[in-house]
Amino acid sequence: MRVSIFGTGYVGLVTGTCLAEVGHDVVCVDVDAGKVERLHQGIIPIYEPGLEPMVKANHAAGRLDFTTDAARAVAHGEVVFIAVGTPPDEDGSADLQYVLQVARTIGEHLQAPTIVVDKSTVPVGTADRVRATIAEVLAARGADIAFDVVSNPEFLKEGAAVEDCMRPDRIVLGVDDPRAAEKLKRLYAPFNRNHDRFVVMDVRSAELTKYAANAMLATKISFMNEIANIAEKVGADVEMVRKGIGSDPRIGWHFIYPGAGYGGSCFPKDVQALARTAQQVGHQPLLLDAVEAVNERQKGHLHELVTRHYGDGGISGKTFAVWGLAFKPDTDDMREASSRRLLAQLWESGARVRAYDPEAADEARRIFGDRDDLVLCASAADALDGADALVVVTEWKQFRSADLAQVRAKLGDAVVFDGRNIYRPEDAEDAGLAYYGIGRGRSV
Ligand code: UGA
Repeated sequence: MRVSIFGTGYVGLVTGTCLAEVGHDVVCVDVDAGKVERLHQGIIPIYEPGLEPMVKANHAAGRLDFTTDAARAVAHGEVVFIAVGTPPDEDGSADLQYVLQVARTIGEHLQAPTIVVDKSTVPVGTADRVRATIAEVLAARGADIAFDVVSNPEFLKEGAAVEDCMRPDRIVLGVDDPRAAEKLKRLYAPFNRNHDRFVVMDVRSAELTKYAANAMLATKISFMNEIANIAEKVGADVEMVRKGIGSDPRIGWHFIYPGAGYGGSCFPKDVQALARTAQQVGHQPLLLDAVEAVNERQKGHLHELVTRHYGDGGISGKTFAVWGLAFKPDTDDMREASSRRLLAQLWESGARVRAYDPEAADEARRIFGDRDDLVLCASAADALDGADALVVVTEWKQFRSADLAQVRAKLGDAVVFDGRNIYRPEDAEDAGLAYYGIGRGRSV
């Protein structure tokens, strides 16, 4: 099938590549000419395991092309995806200007009946606005061309995006016309193996499904962070509590890891946007507001543990080794990352930072620029050189197997703040380190 995709960001690039991988003829279009040129050369703008070889192979095979030519892309696609960004507006609602700009572009160039697919995470009602925008532009052109607008939200996780895309656990299709569902089922047939993964519903339910999924996951995290904070105060260990409740299948093991707060391009933005939608329709989103408030507080928790440990002496002049800058492992993405809050607070308190992240150093350089109180180090061990204390912010695998005795030997103040609970307090203590985790009351 001939497919066009507007937007070569995370979702667009991964979706386009996976659709090409199963044999579709895909054209990805982006307004950023430099990015399109780099993609032609096989230079991928994001770090995502498995993506680069797949882009190169499908590009070489002629199934995956990149262009800035919107007219060509619209003419190419029997199915045209909108996968551009929806950054938060000042009030937290999703900014739809890029989505609606693409809708206008589609209207301007449409020549034959097409299915337009909303893949971006967009508030309920956006498909209607996309439909109205395209119709308006077509009317202005005096063109009478049939088109349909479908909501097909994406559930891929950064760091596992290719895997999630190739083996989705569900494929949500929000359609008004059953014929559009049939066409998309043909498009996705190669991904629908073993059991039926299609969930077909109306457009608005599909749009809400995406937000509900992310808000539910964010709620689980904030809930556990709340329990962690209580555990800290009552002298309990939240890791024990986590094991004690996760075995109940109604609760489950996933997304109950307390930590330094959730970040990334999705949870913070989507929880806020859903809360805004609720307010706009006259519903007070008590729970969503609390989920966000708990997360905001949690992002400051590591700094609180640090200042509590150092007490009256303060941390001015101290040097902190920070392990992990990305918002989670296996990505170089630092959007809304907890590390950003921590670093800002450490600097504010007069401390210096020696940071190491296996993938996010370039991103950190771009965000923070050159500053005297930040050294971006080439290795985890390097970050410890001359540091007084260690703070773990992202749970990259390599940090889990650190030799704590060596960590102890390098740190001036022999203290570790474990923002993701990757060490056992007793192991850290055996190595001669003072240990602080999240919600580990016994060691705080
Ligand atoms: C999230 C969802 O998991 C995807 O299903 C969804 O498709 C995607 O958003 C999206 O809307 O595009 P992602 O943002 O890539 O994916 O990352 P997650 O793996 O969900 O992690 C989000 C944050 O939650 C990270 O900062 C992570 O450290 C934190 N987290 C996760 C916890 O603090 N505790 C946990 O138990 C799990």
